[in-house]
Amino acid sequence: MIRARTAVLPDVERIHAIIQPYADVGTLLPRPSAELCENIRDFVVAEEDGSVIGCGALHLYGTHLAEIRSVAVAPEAKGRGAGRALVEALMHEANRQSVTCVCLFTRTPRFFAHLGFEVARRQQLPDKIYKDCVCCPKLTSCDEIAMVKGQIPANVDGLRDPRIVIPLVQLKP
Ligand SMILES: CC(C)(COP(=O)(O)OP(=O)(O)OC[C@H]1O[C@@H](n2cnc3c(N)ncnc32)[C@H](O)[C@@H]1OP(=O)(O)O)[C@@H](O)C(=O)NCCC(=O)NCCS
Repeated sequence: MIRARTAVLPDVERIHAIIQPYADVGTLLPRPSAELCENIRDFVVAEEDGSVIGCGALHLYGTHLAEIRSVAVAPEAKGRGAGRALVEALMHEANRQSVTCVCLFTRTPRFFAHLGFEVARRQQLPDKIYKDCVCCPKLTSCDEIAMVKGQIPANVDGLRDPRIVIPLVQLKP
């Protein structure tokens, strides 16, 4: 039986081993072990018969927004419900934190659409743009699809922050 649980530091090596092959082929962003340690409290893992077979993380921006990241299931364990269990556990945590909108950026949109996420415009998610996209070499040629579940934050004042000079009009929707 598959169950999701909160990750702990001893899970880091296994989480890294699950994510890295997907990062190598460009499906996921790489997550170095040191970064995983720093952010381990964001992670949940899926276990089957005592073995960790998948992982996923929830990054909190505030009650207006959280982001699901690094959802991955080991290739040999795909198709048995671990991916769904992970997303449900992360959504449960978002709900526990009173978060009203959960976003993600993915190259696997059909999986998340199947779980109720809808395609969004990345300009509607400035927290993400300022946290990650501004430093990304693919800022204006991003091939990830933005998706959300819940109420997209109405306040986009961050987009007018004069410290940030990014060609938002060039961002793909
Ligand atoms: C995407 C991924 C997490 C799915 O994990 P999984 O354990 O195989 O998924 P599950 O078995 O829990 O599937 C849950 C449901 O989603 C559906 N599903 C799974 N992968 C799907 C896909 N690529 N497209 C559409 N639907 C999909 C399943 O049919 C299942 O439907 P059901 O519950 O109605 O029968 C896994 O394939 C993976 O790790 N992929 C590589 C990394 C990745 O793309 N991560 C997501 C980007 S952040």
